[in-house]
Amino acid sequence: MHTPATTGLNSAPHLPPVVASEPNSTIAVLEDEIDQLASALAARFEELTLIHDLSQSLTLGEESSSIVETLLDELRPCTSASSLAILLEPDDTSNGEASMHVVGETVEMDWLNELAIRAEEISEEVSGGSRSISIVNRLAIDYDKFVRIVVVPIDRRNQLLGRMIAIRTADQPEFGTTEGDLMRSTSMMLGVHLINQRQFLELQQMFEGTIQSLVSALDAKDAYTCGHSTRVSELTVELAKRLDYGDEGISRVRMGGILHDIGKIGVDDAVLCKPGKLTEEEFDQIKQHPVLGYEILKGIRQFSHILPAVRHHHESWDGTGYPDGLAGDDIPRDAQIMAVADAFDAMTSDRPYRSGMCLEKVISIFQSGRGSQWAADVVDTLLGMPEVMERYAHKESDK
Ligand SMILES: [Fe+2]
Ligand SMILES: [Fe+2]
Repeated sequence: MHTPATTGLNSAPHLPPVVASEPNSTIAVLEDEIDQLASALAARFEELTLIHDLSQSLTLGEESSSIVETLLDELRPCTSASSLAILLEPDDTSNGEASMHVVGETVEMDWLNELAIRAEEISEEVSGGSRSISIVNRLAIDYDKFVRIVVVPIDRRNQLLGRMIAIRTADQPEFGTTEGDLMRSTSMMLGVHLINQRQFLELQQMFEGTIQSLVSALDAKDAYTCGHSTRVSELTVELAKRLDYGDEGISRVRMGGILHDIGKIGVDDAVLCKPGKLTEEEFDQIKQHPVLGYEILKGIRQFSHILPAVRHHHESWDGTGYPDGLAGDDIPRDAQIMAVADAFDAMTSDRPYRSGMCLEKVISIFQSGRGSQWAADVVDTLLGMPEVMERYAHKESDK
């Protein structure tokens, strides 16, 4: 840095006068910039926090409406809107009807939709075509009244799924890009989620439809066991609930029960529907069905958890069952439970060669097979629910 040379006491250097306001104004500008950066940073931080919180609540399989409501509840305080709404376009899951979710002051759906479209038109004229965020701070709603409005489309791959709309009354501050950006980020997230959710529901419906087709094919093959799969499924669930199964286990045995005899599709009709006693050879054919069922389902990953019950529901506690002759606790628990439900339904159902047994006889067979043919605690559980036995003995679920 250059230092001016001194020329003696009498010739003090003529330094330029200090202008007090210049550094101060620079500082003021810097302080102003820092304030702006700090508030922009705070807004971004708020946006990221909100997106993080929302991402935690986006669960596939949950109703879209509850996710939309959670999102609105979280977003409204950040936008200070008097009304914050999401209008969803009709889709396959809504019976062709549009829907609206709103937090804050209630508004009419048609009124809000009309405002949103007008705001988008005005915004398009002003911005020359961009419709990602429409902010109109004086949108007339009456001859002397106006509202402030932000409209953000909820879209995904050029498909409009709905709109997110924030409204402030005229006495509230104007909307700015902070609110618009926040709504845009959340609406993009919601758009992705709604599309994923729809695809998830479609796959789920297809999966359930496939299961139902398999069961219908089996029911059509053997009229006498029609409804058996559904009843075994329901009764297994009743037993599992009392044997402290959790939600996951219950849904597993529900599906396992539905498909436990699916292997009978591969058994000869003449054998499957034969009235009267089966020969040893014919019975050997019937005994193939747990393995056939296992083979049919094993290639589908979504069925992997029900394979043990499908394969082993004819094992006997003493090891004399089929197909693998497993005994005691080597028999998978789901199969132990299903074996009891299966036997109960078989005994109480009519067959071509006999009528269903009365409940007293069924109970006495279970008592004598407790701990030899079936797991003792499962039999005890069945015998401990007389109302359920009464109901299923009379085939209520078949009506
Ligand atoms: Fe079976
Ligand atoms: Fe069965």
